[in-house]
Amino acid sequence: MKKVLILFGTRPEAIKMAPLVKEFQKNSNTFEIKVCVTAQHREMLDQVLDFFDIVPDYDLDLMKPGQNLYGLTGDIILGLKPVLEEFKPNYVCVHGDTTTTMAGSIASFYSGAKVCHVEAGLRTHNKWSPFPEEINRQITGRVSDYHFAPTETSKNNLISESVSKESILVTGNTVIDALLQSVDKVNENPSNLIKDLKKQLGSDEVILVTGHRRENHGDGFIRICNALKEIAESRPKTTIVYPVHLNPKVQEPVNRILKNVSNIKLIDPLAYQDFIWLMNRSKIIITDSGGVQEEAPSLGKPVLVMRDTTERPEAVDAGTVILVGTNQKLIVDETLDLLTNKDRFNAMSTLHNPYGDGKACKHIVAFLKKLDN
Ligand code: UD1
Ligand code: UDP
Repeated sequence: MKKVLILFGTRPEAIKMAPLVKEFQKNSNTFEIKVCVTAQHREMLDQVLDFFDIVPDYDLDLMKPGQNLYGLTGDIILGLKPVLEEFKPNYVCVHGDTTTTMAGSIASFYSGAKVCHVEAGLRTHNKWSPFPEEINRQITGRVSDYHFAPTETSKNNLISESVSKESILVTGNTVIDALLQSVDKVNENPSNLIKDLKKQLGSDEVILVTGHRRENHGDGFIRICNALKEIAESRPKTTIVYPVHLNPKVQEPVNRILKNVSNIKLIDPLAYQDFIWLMNRSKIIITDSGGVQEEAPSLGKPVLVMRDTTERPEAVDAGTVILVGTNQKLIVDETLDLLTNKDRFNAMSTLHNPYGDGKACKHIVAFLKKLDN
């Protein structure tokens, strides 16, 4: 039996690793699987674990309110030591570019396990954007033995860093596996929250907003909030729905600036299935999220990305995503233009699937099955 530890800690990693856990579980004659969560996130992680019905074998329960990168990195490496020493995995699967990913891959390397990087090879080549994710994924790529790249572009990024071709597999992004496996459940069994929201929104035009990136904390968030206020004031019949990330550095400016704007609804982070419903219900999405940029093309939703760079150029090339940074005027102008210019809106709303066909996890498990050890 090959022993595999699946390791994650935040909401987006959990969403993107959940279908991989399920796929490994279907192959329990070949693999002994254990799931370890660092719980770098707590409530936002638990929402995903509940929805996908995953009970971790190890829960490091590390999240601290207002945590910092130094403490979190140290806590993850030290917290994983006993887990790795007890289970002695042959392989550890990590995902993406968070602190859990980076510190988890280093701890796994120390233990002698082979490191498998899911969503490998994304690059902006700018170490400050996104911060600290660009460096997290480069470090993880450096210590990984196997690289599961979502697209040819990400594979080529790895090849240009001299990663051997044999260790890379283009799989598509597991976020599409998660999305396709969840869409039906959303419609079959809507939560009470969604039933309420449906009533409140009526036939209103809806703009969905999310945001959390560290490089936008401070002035960036103030400009974002001012832009949203300006949009809301110039479109009184449009409702902006904003599930606010729990990071205090996000909560504070968002609540201070937007709480009293009548057509902006600030709500708690939504469970994944509810968020999918809301993406589908929205006309456009304004976000700095990585995962949302990947989901939106499959749902045919135009996205304004509040970042200066993106490691996901495929959706920009497909015409679904435009970068607006945190420039207040640009966010306002592009949003208002998209809401009024039908041709532009229609061109950006075409369905595309640049990130895969929902079979990424099957490819990953088949690849690991074929390895000798
Ligand atoms: C983290 C990741 C980021 C990822 C994002 C997804 C790092 C450095 N950052 O950023 O790459 O895109 O998650 O959302 O790995 N909090 C809660 N409850 C939760 C989650 C967060 O209260 O369930 C609050 C806590 O006060 C916590 C703070 O948010 O200390 C920051 O969490 P942290 O994971 O350090 O940063 P994120 O901004 O969430
Ligand atoms: N998401 C969610 N509830 C929300 C907001 C987002 O379930 O209230 C999902 C979204 O569908 C996507 C993921 O969370 O799959 C994105 O997470 P986030 O933006 O926090 O992180 P990033 O993708 O930027 O790392």
